[in-house]
Amino acid sequence: MKGTVLVTGGAGYIGSHACVELIEAGYSVVIVDNLNNSKHESVNRVTEITGKPIDFYPYDAREKQDLTEVFQHHSIDAVIHFAGLKAVGESAKIPAYYYDNNLNSTLILLEVMKEQNVNKLVFSSSATVYGEPSTVPISEDFPLSATNAYGRTKLFIEEILRDMANADKLNQVDSPLKIALLRYFNPVGAHKSGRIGEDPNGIPNNLMPYISQVAVGKLDKLSIFGNDYPTRDGTGVRDYIHVVDLAKGHVKAVDYLLHMDESKSECHAYNLGTGHGVSVLEMVNTFMQVTGQTIEYRFAERRPGDVAECYANPTKANNILKWHAEKNLEDMMRDTWRWQKNNPKGYED
Ligand code: NAD
Ligand code: WQD
Repeated sequence: MKGTVLVTGGAGYIGSHACVELIEAGYSVVIVDNLNNSKHESVNRVTEITGKPIDFYPYDAREKQDLTEVFQHHSIDAVIHFAGLKAVGESAKIPAYYYDNNLNSTLILLEVMKEQNVNKLVFSSSATVYGEPSTVPISEDFPLSATNAYGRTKLFIEEILRDMANADKLNQVDSPLKIALLRYFNPVGAHKSGRIGEDPNGIPNNLMPYISQVAVGKLDKLSIFGNDYPTRDGTGVRDYIHVVDLAKGHVKAVDYLLHMDESKSECHAYNLGTGHGVSVLEMVNTFMQVTGQTIEYRFAERRPGDVAECYANPTKANNILKWHAEKNLEDMMRDTWRWQKNNPKGYED
């Protein structure tokens, strides 16, 4: 066994895939998730895939006593903090809820980690912290900004984490914080078993689940937001990354933090993307080609806040974490469709 990782938000889309990859890499995992955007069934399915039992706590990461109890029951070597709210549109309507949940869960977690002498943390950040990038591909040293409340929670948490790691350095603490801020681009796809995948509540905001729900007959038609962007076919370009590749990036980040010099404090950001931009029309056409399904679509107005192009320069993660994305667009489509087709109602089936 390589060690024990506490995974907050481990019942969610990315967290459940990360748990599978961590277990398969030899870690044991403990999950804390209040199930506010997920189902316990995802944890059962991770157990089914890996054949390993998982310690699951249905706790809110903002509850200090509950979190402390988890650290006292398990010898935690590192934490991956996925727990958070992530809907951009919702964050504009109820920003206080987003700030409370995302910031306070992180602050409480940091407090408990300090008290329990755990100092390795991987944080789920997002390409959204680049705001409206002036050029692509985007490197980690690009200026940071945010265009919505959700994005600001990620930006503020990144700043908090940098301050905390710096403070440990200034105070010359014995085991200072070691933090990896993983900035995800656009996670899509599902585990190849078709047993875990993305299960959004209500009508999906994101492109990939929208396409797959049109294919399965839950939704009528895709609206493509804008066909007049200065891109190769006029539709928006993004860096779609297979969720299993993303999950493996977390294993690499944990490996890296666990092997660092214990006396060193660090807080670095890493882009997790493929480095390739794909347009909305290319996504739709590849999905149709790979799955044989027809996706009805129409062109609609641009969605406010969308940028024309956003894709990563992932060189830093390649070089330092020894990670790179391995799966291609066809894998993303095939795996999304297997999950959607086998679980048309998500985890309710
Ligand atoms: P998700 O909603 O599927 O998973 C988040 C999980 O956190 C859910 O299971 C939810 O129940 C749990 N949670 C939320 N608040 C909690 C709290 N206070 N205490 C305990 N559990 C709590 O989302 P995801 O797509 O798996 O995203 C995981 C993380 O990655 C999030 O922080 C998100 O902001 C970030 N991220 C996601 C994307 C994306 O496109 N999916 C992109 C960039 C960053
Ligand atoms: C992708 C492309 C849309 C839906 C969002 C968050 C970001 C991050 C990832 C968490 C764009 C187009 C979409 C539809 C469409 N999340 N589209 N019709 O906007 O790049 O990123 O998820 O951190 O913060 O903003 O992803 O999947 O919503 O959109 O035409 O019904 O698909 O305009 O060009 P986005 P997305």
